[in-house]
Amino acid sequence: MEPIYLDHAAATPMHPEALARMLPYMTKHYGNPSSIHSFGREALAAVAEARELIGAALKVSGRRVLFTSGGTESDNLAIHGLAARRGYAGHVITAKTEHHAVLHACERLEELGVQVTYLPVDATGRVKPEEVRQAIRPDTFLITIMYANNETGTIQPMKEIGQIAREAGVLFHTDAVQAFGTVPIDLNALGADLVSLSAHKIGGPKGVGALVVGEKVVLQPLLYGGTQERSRRAGTENVPGIVGFGAVVGLTVSRLAEKRAYLESLRTLLLEELAKHLPQEAFHVNGHPSERLPHIVNISFPGVSAETLLMNLDLAGVAAASGSACTSGSLEPSHVLEAMKVGADCVRSAIRFSFAPVTTKQEIVRAAEIVATFVRRHT
Ligand SMILES: Cc1ncc(COP(=O)(O)O)c(C=O)c1O
Repeated sequence: MEPIYLDHAAATPMHPEALARMLPYMTKHYGNPSSIHSFGREALAAVAEARELIGAALKVSGRRVLFTSGGTESDNLAIHGLAARRGYAGHVITAKTEHHAVLHACERLEELGVQVTYLPVDATGRVKPEEVRQAIRPDTFLITIMYANNETGTIQPMKEIGQIAREAGVLFHTDAVQAFGTVPIDLNALGADLVSLSAHKIGGPKGVGALVVGEKVVLQPLLYGGTQERSRRAGTENVPGIVGFGAVVGLTVSRLAEKRAYLESLRTLLLEELAKHLPQEAFHVNGHPSERLPHIVNISFPGVSAETLLMNLDLAGVAAASGSACTSGSLEPSHVLEAMKVGADCVRSAIRFSFAPVTTKQEIVRAAEIVATFVRRHT
């Protein structure tokens, strides 16, 4: 039987149309966007078009879109790009449940002299806006809090945090890698100064992302060399990747409501099917019940080891994850669930299932049956 892939928050197949649009930029239109001849101008125009598509998806000018190699680089450029401008002095506010691309970048800031506050979260994974306000000091220059969590899907109170940052005159960065392309984001309403995006989470190619930067924000580059991306990110642009990213964003945004509703129906179906096979106390959903992404569901199966369950699921042809993609290989307990204080048993037994438009209802029904069989056997 065909394996069932339920780990789309880690990686998802490319949208065939986005792939088709990027291929000619590897063969026919191979010019360097910095070249002044027609080949170069053709590549430059394609990059500019992608920039506009991504800006339009967030309801801002394409001028604000700075292309990077992915979410990790975008997070690092936002955090270190601002801190370096300030001579690595001052104070930054973040949350304990951030992706490691933010957390480890902040830990490096501390080594370089910046003070960092790691805010706690409640049992659903949300920070309290009031605690963000209270953490602000006269030397705070950045609040970096993710839009939605990659392990639980919990969405942070973005508008409230944006408002607090604006009132205090502090820059606000959000890692929207998991949220972008799944829920609508109006950057003007959000009030974020910097937003990290990644193409490969939404059917674009791996190795390309963007940092959307407010007009007045000045960043110290991480890379030195040419004047690409208005001298903020040196290096020849990944033209095919950027074209694929722009294409998938254009294709997704026009059908966002439809995509969201379908993903939501898959999530509901998975929980309904599990409830058919297992007693209520055999599984517990981690995260916020309503303020959450539609395509990620984090479920603990108390008494079962996530590691054993994942291995058995893999043998039975079901691919899921524990914790984030980056930590699942190292089998460390999830820092996200630990910060939510869900209890050691829930942390040990948590599995993340994540879906995409290519996931079918039949796959969900079969996966639920396989999961329930193993859970019953191991409890
Ligand atoms: C929330 C979040 N931020 C950042 C990243 C890193 O993105 P990339 O793989 O494009 O470097 C990921 C990827 O798992 C993510 O889920």
